[in-house]
Amino acid sequence: MAGRIPQYFIDDLLARINITDVVESRVKLRKSGKNYAGLCPFHNEKSPSFTVNPEKQFYYCFGCGAGGNALGFLMEYENTSFPEAIEELARMAGVDIPKEETSSKQIERDHQMKQQLSLLDQASQYFQHQLQASHLKRKAEQYLNKRGLTPNTVARFLIGYAPPGWDNLIKHFSSLSDAPQQLEKAGVVVFNEDKRKYYDRFRDRIIFPIRDMRGRVIGFGGRVLGDEKPKYLNSPETDTFHKGRELYGLYEARQHNRQLERLLIVEGYMDVVGLAQNGIHWAVATLGTATSEQHILRLFKLVPEVIFCFDGDQAGRNAAQRALNVTLPLMEDGKSVRFLFLPEGEDPDSLVKKEGQPAFEQRIVSATPLSSYFFESLAGDKPLDSMDARAQLASEALPLLRSMKPCLLQQMMLERVSELTGLSKEQLQSLEGLQQIHPPAPSAEASTPINNYTLSADYEEYPELLTEQPPDHLYDEIHSTASSTTNRGRASRTISLVNRIIAILIHRPELARQIDDPETLGQLQEPNIDLLIELLNYFRQHPENSLGTLNVDWNQDAQHQAYRVMIAEISHVEPIPSSANALTELRDALQRLSSRQNDSQLDRLLKKQKLSPLTTEEKKQLQTLLLSGR
Ligand code: GTP
Ligand code: MN
Repeated sequence: MAGRIPQYFIDDLLARINITDVVESRVKLRKSGKNYAGLCPFHNEKSPSFTVNPEKQFYYCFGCGAGGNALGFLMEYENTSFPEAIEELARMAGVDIPKEETSSKQIERDHQMKQQLSLLDQASQYFQHQLQASHLKRKAEQYLNKRGLTPNTVARFLIGYAPPGWDNLIKHFSSLSDAPQQLEKAGVVVFNEDKRKYYDRFRDRIIFPIRDMRGRVIGFGGRVLGDEKPKYLNSPETDTFHKGRELYGLYEARQHNRQLERLLIVEGYMDVVGLAQNGIHWAVATLGTATSEQHILRLFKLVPEVIFCFDGDQAGRNAAQRALNVTLPLMEDGKSVRFLFLPEGEDPDSLVKKEGQPAFEQRIVSATPLSSYFFESLAGDKPLDSMDARAQLASEALPLLRSMKPCLLQQMMLERVSELTGLSKEQLQSLEGLQQIHPPAPSAEASTPINNYTLSADYEEYPELLTEQPPDHLYDEIHSTASSTTNRGRASRTISLVNRIIAILIHRPELARQIDDPETLGQLQEPNIDLLIELLNYFRQHPENSLGTLNVDWNQDAQHQAYRVMIAEISHVEPIPSSANALTELRDALQRLSSRQNDSQLDRLLKKQKLSPLTTEEKKQLQTLLLSGR
C-alpha cells in the first residue's frame, strides 16, 4: 500500500474500534470483572492468563508477557504488517484510509514489489498446473509418488513441476509487456549474455515454492527428477527473496499450528516435506545457506525451543559447531536449543520414512541440549587428567562463554567449566581479566573511539565491511569481535539512556511508533543520538521489519555499516528488556532524556540571561522550563 498513513487517522481509528471485538472474534473470551480473560494465543497454556482490558483498550498476557493495543494484537495474531492491520481495522470500523503524500520513489518501489509478488504467485500457479497437465503428469507424479508424497502434502506445500523446454514460463506470460525482463527480476528467468537471450531458470524440475511468513511466494527451489546435476536449483537473491533470513516451511508450520512450541531446523526441502508427510509439521529448512543469526532470532520470536538437526558425518559435526557459535550469543533465559545428530547416511526424510513418526519424535526428545553439546565438542573424549588438558578446556570455553549475554545458562556453564577444570569461578573470571589486560593493540590512526567503543578492530580485520555486504559468516565474526571489545569496556561504561532506548527498540521494533516526534531528539547532545534517530525513522517507516531486515538494509554506505556495528555492540552489553516492561522502560528513558534536555536548555538560558537580554521567544521558553518544575 503506497502512502504513509497519517497518525491522526490511526489515533482516531483506535478510538473508534473496541479491542474486545477485535480479540473476541479470534480468541474465546469470558468476562472476568471489568476485564475479559482467555487462553493466550501467543503461547501454549491450559489455564487462562490472557486478559483484555476494554477500559484501557489493551491486552496483556501474564503468562508470556505479550501485550499491546488492538493494532498490535492484529499484527501479532494475523502475522501481518502494520498497513495491513490498519486496513483490517478500517474495514471493521467502515472507514476509508486517507494517505499522506509519499515520495514517488517509494510509490514506485511498492508498486514494483507488488508486481513481482504477483508474478511469482502466477508462476507458482503455473508450475502447480503443470503437475496436472496430462502429458506431463505421469513423470512428475511418479516421482512424487516414489518419494512418498500424497496429493494432500503436495497441495499443502504448493509443489509443482517446471516442464522441459527453454521458454515455457516466458510464453505463459506472453501477454505481459516486457515479461522476460520482469521475470528475470523475479528470479525465474535467466538472461544469457552471449546469446542475448532470456530463458526459463527452472526446466524439468519439481518445484518447491518458498513462502514468506505471510504466505506470499517469494522464490523457488527446483529438484531434478533423476541424477542430473545440479540436484537443486534455487532462485537467486532478489528484491523479495533473501536467503539469509527466510526459512522454507515456516509459513506452512505456522499454518498447521499457530501455537508452536518448538521448531526443528533441517537441511533440505525434502526433509521438511517428508517430515510433514509423516506427521511432523514443525520442521523448517535454511535455503542452502548455513543457519544465520537472523534465522535464529526469527525462530526465537516464535518459539522458545529450537532443535538443530545434523547429519551424523563430519560435515554435520562442522555445521553443528558453527550453529553453536552463532547461537551462543543469542541465548537467553527461557530459550532452549538442542542438537540432534542422525545416524550416518540418513537424513530426516529418509529416517522418518524408515522408522516412522513416533521413533523420530523420540530422537528429538532425547536430542542433546546445547550445554551438553558445548562440553562434548570442547573436551570430546579426552580425559581431563592433566593440567594442560584442563587449561586448554578453560581457554577454549571462556571466549565462547563471554560471547553470551548474561543469563542463567551462562552462569551454569561457567560453573561446569569450574567443576571440570578445578578452577573456582573467581579464578576463571580473573583469567578472563588476564585477557582483558592484553587486548590486541589497535593501530594508532584507526583507534579513534566512537562513544566509549572502539570500532577499529572490525574495520581493520574486515575492510569489506566498508565496501560491500559481508556474507553471513563474516557478520557473525564481526559480532563476536564486537562483543569482545565491549566486554572490556563493560565495567567503566557509563549508563547511556540513548543506548538503552536503542536496545529496547532492537528487541521491540514496533515500539518505535510510540515515540511521538523523533526529530526533536536531534537537539540532544548525546552520544549515538544520530543512530537512535535513524533507527526510529527506520522502524517507523517499516514497522514490520526486524533487526534482521535492518542488517540487510543498512548496507548502503559506511555510515550505516558503522551504525550496524554499533548496534551489535549495544545489543551485547545492554540487558534484554523484559517484554512486560519494555514500553514503560522506553517511556521512562525518553522522559529522562527529555528532562536532561530541559536541564541543559534551562542552564543555557540562565547563563545567557546574565550576559545579554533574552528574546521574547527565549523568555517564554525559560518561563515554560521553570514552570515545568525542573
Ligand atoms: P533429496 O535428495 O531430494 O532427498 O534432497 P536432500 O535434501 O536429501 O538433498 P541434500 O542433502 O543433497 O541437500 C540439502 C539441501 O541443500 C537442498 O534442499 C538444497 O537446498 C541444497 N542443495 C543440495 N544440492 C544442491 C545443489 O546442487 N545446488 C544448490 N544450489 N543447492 C543444493
Ligand atoms: Mn534426502
